Amino acid sequence: MKIGVLCSGGDAPGMNPCLRAIVRSAGKYDDFKVVGIKRGYQGLFDGAFYNDGRAIDVRDVSGLSSKGGAFLNSSRCKQMYDDEGVKEAAAILKANRFNALICIGGNGTLSGAHQLTKYWDGQVIGVPGTIDNDLLGSDYTIGFPTATATAVDAIDKLRDTAGSHDMMFVVEVMGRKCGDLAVFTAVAGGCEVVAVPETETDFQKIADQLKEFKMLGKRSVIMVVAEGDSSLASGESDKRGVANVIRELEKHGCPYEMRSVVLGHIQRGGVPCPADRILATELGYHAIEALHDGKSDVMVGMIAGKLALTPLEEVIKDRRGSSKDEIVLKLEQLIEHLSI
Ligand code: F6P
Repeated sequence: MKIGVLCSGGDAPGMNPCLRAIVRSAGKYDDFKVVGIKRGYQGLFDGAFYNDGRAIDVRDVSGLSSKGGAFLNSSRCKQMYDDEGVKEAAAILKANRFNALICIGGNGTLSGAHQLTKYWDGQVIGVPGTIDNDLLGSDYTIGFPTATATAVDAIDKLRDTAGSHDMMFVVEVMGRKCGDLAVFTAVAGGCEVVAVPETETDFQKIADQLKEFKMLGKRSVIMVVAEGDSSLASGESDKRGVANVIRELEKHGCPYEMRSVVLGHIQRGGVPCPADRILATELGYHAIEALHDGKSDVMVGMIAGKLALTPLEEVIKDRRGSSKDEIVLKLEQLIEHLSI
């Protein structure tokens, strides 16, 4: 069986240990050979195959457990957004005699994977790889634990300087429309305020809270804002992003001197943490087992510590599950509760 593997969309720490697990797990079956497709779906259109299309050797993936980034590279491929592009990709897979494809990535990647099954009869397996943790079918996505650790590390450093200068930092984290990265970071970083897309952000309420903090003798404050939160684009200001949050809070009487920080793509890089390596390794192994069991059009994930195979159609239908929303709400309440 000729199995193609690709990483697509925003890269995530852990994609490499996942590739290592896929290649080494496939090694157990004599007729399985794994071929790397470079730069995601784009590499398929460009005919960019790792090592000129030769099977990835088990030694090629040595040391990948601890490597950040994506060994096979990644990209966002616009051609996969329309039907003609998907048909072309299916034809290329057929022409190159692939029997199966493993796609590691987020919602866009898995949508492309599902569309492919309409025009190609090979087996398709999705693996959740995104720092956003916004997919149904897995409690955690590969990359989320490391991105959280990176953001918390930055928060710890900002807290030092905030404490020295009696200041407040408004920190924007990634996550698309999902608040997981923001709330997990805020709880772990002991932050006082969090703003996420799952709940409404009320500047007056936050400003009143900040005034109370000041009266209670709180010298430094850290507010984490998810990039998908409405506060980044709301209010009367023509400014967007965290600058808007600062301006609105000033207008509502925030008593702290504020500075803004956008963590940006730092969150996507770095050595994958052990939790990511373990998740990536388990899911890489199960992706191969799923192929061996004849499965297709499903995503491998872990729910409550157990392997879960979820139809790709369900995964991409809704980016969020109510259980995940409950986690965001619970953690947001915890932050409010502890900020005294
Ligand atoms: O999906 C991963 C992610 O990092 C999001 O958190 C963010 O919104 C987006 O990708 C940024 O994409 P790009 O690197 O294309 O700017």
